[in-house]
Amino acid sequence: MTDKKRLFVKNWGCQMNVYDGGRMADVLAPLGYAPAEAPEGADMVILNTCHIREKATEKLFSELGRLRALKQERPGMVIAVAGCVAQAEGAEITARAPYVDMVFGPQSYHRLPEMVARATRAAGAVIETEFPAEEKFDHLPEGGAPQGVTGFLTVQEGCDKFCAFCVVPYTRGAEFSRPAGAILAEARRMAAQGTKELTLLGQNVNAWHGEGADGLAGLLRLLAEVPGIERLRYTTSHPRDMDEALIAAHRDIPQVMPFLHLPVQSGSDRILSTMNRGHTAEHYLRLVERLRRARPDLALSTDIIAGHPGEREEDHQATLALIREVGFAQAFSFKYSPRPGTPAAGMAGQVEEATKDRRLAEIQALLRDQQAAFNARMTGTICEVLWTGPGRHPGQMSGRTPWLQPVHALAPSHCVGRITPVRILAGHPNSLSGELAEQERTAA
Ligand code: SAH
Ligand code: SF4
Ligand code: F3S
Repeated sequence: MTDKKRLFVKNWGCQMNVYDGGRMADVLAPLGYAPAEAPEGADMVILNTCHIREKATEKLFSELGRLRALKQERPGMVIAVAGCVAQAEGAEITARAPYVDMVFGPQSYHRLPEMVARATRAAGAVIETEFPAEEKFDHLPEGGAPQGVTGFLTVQEGCDKFCAFCVVPYTRGAEFSRPAGAILAEARRMAAQGTKELTLLGQNVNAWHGEGADGLAGLLRLLAEVPGIERLRYTTSHPRDMDEALIAAHRDIPQVMPFLHLPVQSGSDRILSTMNRGHTAEHYLRLVERLRRARPDLALSTDIIAGHPGEREEDHQATLALIREVGFAQAFSFKYSPRPGTPAAGMAGQVEEATKDRRLAEIQALLRDQQAAFNARMTGTICEVLWTGPGRHPGQMSGRTPWLQPVHALAPSHCVGRITPVRILAGHPNSLSGELAEQERTAA
């Protein structure tokens, strides 16, 4: 039963998918599966998919085509499709690709050992896309492979917000918060394995309302007490769930980093309402003001959608105006992509492709300038950098600032896992370069 077998997991999509991919490997480790670097020669390949924007399904099938050829050479190879496309498409996948052995959604991967047994025994594919009654988190093994200096921990999953454009409520299911005790135990194990910077994950992480702590602010307070955890982050937040206690946590808890990803999607009230976001542009701007009052050096990041159904030129201008008013340190922006089964996909006023492209380009140019300016402003400052691993050039190491910027500097390799002061020499569009501050150079 513990013959050495090789498992290759390919993750698409958000950080939660990356976390899930790691947990799938943890679940399969007791069955003798060790991680492989490539699908060639693997005994099992899991494609952990994302459904958030278009082309996900096409990407999946082209990847499956490649795997089919590998499977012809290795008939025992198990091919699995996991994640949000698996949840959304289910048996459609095996209908189109009968050589797929297993299809399972994000809420059932704790059942992998049983699914593997069924798939290797039975003729016909195993499909698990129900939302099972038992909670996945209660059935996942404790421990698992170390994540490294920076690590992710899922504390909340699912979404009840139903933004008109979004598939997540359908693929991840209803909002669920893990209890504080289980989260703390996992954080302690991660700290013992060397994780210094912990990012709490949730589709609506600031809606966390699990047992054992008073909201996310209370949970952050408990996590700040875990020895070894020196930095805390959380993502993704919804503006509606950003309460006073959480804003205060940015002021009061030194481990909480001065960086917040707070998606706004649009700067137009009309579009925000069409999107069912439940807040206005003004609400978002006042929120940013309160956050900056609590933590003056807070940097913000966001998500923007260009060309949502109903978006007119003046709405697009309102989005650009909001971006200018906030000044983001970083951001993700996307062209609206109709998702099957979502309300927005069937709305009147779909925006032409060329218009979406042009609006997205304008948004991205502005955001790029803001990011470059934010990085350039760091030049000459001394920054606390958490070293994460080797850099691109010999002798160089890379790390990250409290504001999530990658930093490169000449440094000894034993600095990994330490936080040291770095003098920033230059800010580039996507990173910073620096040198160890005086006292660090002599200590090294
Ligand atoms: N839970 C997070 C977002 C998850 S999806 C939140 O509520 O903020 C990540 C981002 O993908 C979203 O913020 C949105 O900007 C983008 N997105 C989601 N659905 C999309 C669609 N149909 N077309 C284009 N972008 C989309
Ligand atoms: Fe999607 Fe909206 Fe839920 Fe975020 S809050 S996951 S965008 S439905
Ligand atoms: Fe994608 Fe599912 Fe994450 S659709 S963004 S993998 S929640």
